[in-house]
Amino acid sequence: MPLAIITGGATGIGAAAVKKYASEGYDAALLDLNKEESLTLCQEEHPGSIAFFETDVRDRKKVEASVASAVELFGPPSVLFANAGVQRLSSLFELRDEDIDAVIDTNLKGTIYTVATVARYMRDAGQGSIVLMASDQVFAGKSGSIAYGASKGGVGQLAKSLSVELSPLGIRINAICPATVKTPLTDKIFEDLGVKEYAGNSEAAWKAEAESIPLKRIALPEEIANVVYFISSSEASFMTGSLITVDGGFTAQ
Ligand SMILES: NC(=O)c1ccc[n+]([C@@H]2O[C@H](COP(=O)([O-])OP(=O)(O)OC[C@H]3O[C@@H](n4cnc5c(N)ncnc54)[C@H](O)[C@@H]3O)[C@@H](O)[C@H]2O)c1
Repeated sequence: MPLAIITGGATGIGAAAVKKYASEGYDAALLDLNKEESLTLCQEEHPGSIAFFETDVRDRKKVEASVASAVELFGPPSVLFANAGVQRLSSLFELRDEDIDAVIDTNLKGTIYTVATVARYMRDAGQGSIVLMASDQVFAGKSGSIAYGASKGGVGQLAKSLSVELSPLGIRINAICPATVKTPLTDKIFEDLGVKEYAGNSEAAWKAEAESIPLKRIALPEEIANVVYFISSSEASFMTGSLITVDGGFTAQ
């Protein structure tokens, strides 16, 4: 079976991707910090198997060790979905060094470490497909999301520069750019927003967010994972260096 390596696969969009690849007959290597949620996913029955490799993507050596273990177990990777990411909301004037570091180290440096590690195997095989998790912030500014926006803008640019370097080696690389998706990451954000701006009513905060999107609703993780799967598949064989919005029309406005 082909192998898909998915970082940040324990919850949210990454977990939906793990299930999608495993249900489509891929073996899925789930690299994440969150052991408990990951091990629960590993128990699910699918045509492909799911294996967990405890990994902090900020640690290049750990990424290399986890990918080597996954390759030993399943063989060389066909697909990488570099998805692990964190958000730290803060106005520019209150933005702390530790928040800048968390966001840049995970979202940007972690993505580079992961791609650099996995692409070596793909280079040797002469083929592979990589999808990077960017965000609508590649295209749209958002107040209070400064370091995160910079990190995701960087990921979008990575997809472009890496496509120029990797495509001649048979490796396609694209970035996906979702607007707001219902996941544990956004649950926390909208809970806090509800407290701050909607008298504790997080439902009202979610409703206002949905109103800002032309499709008038929030995406489900599966709606992103399905597009990731398509982009990585041979159905998308001429796509490389693309930034693909999956945003209910948010950045079309
Ligand atoms: N939810 C949204 O609205 C949205 C929109 C656009 C982009 N994204 C991006 O999608 C990705 C997934 O986010 P999500 O919304 O599913 O959130 P999530 O919190 O459910 O998932 C993030 C996953 O990454 C893992 N992770 C965090 N830091 C890590 C590290 N250092 N090493 C390994 N794993 C780590 C977490 O344990 C978790 O499993 C992120 O990159 C996020 O920025 C999310």
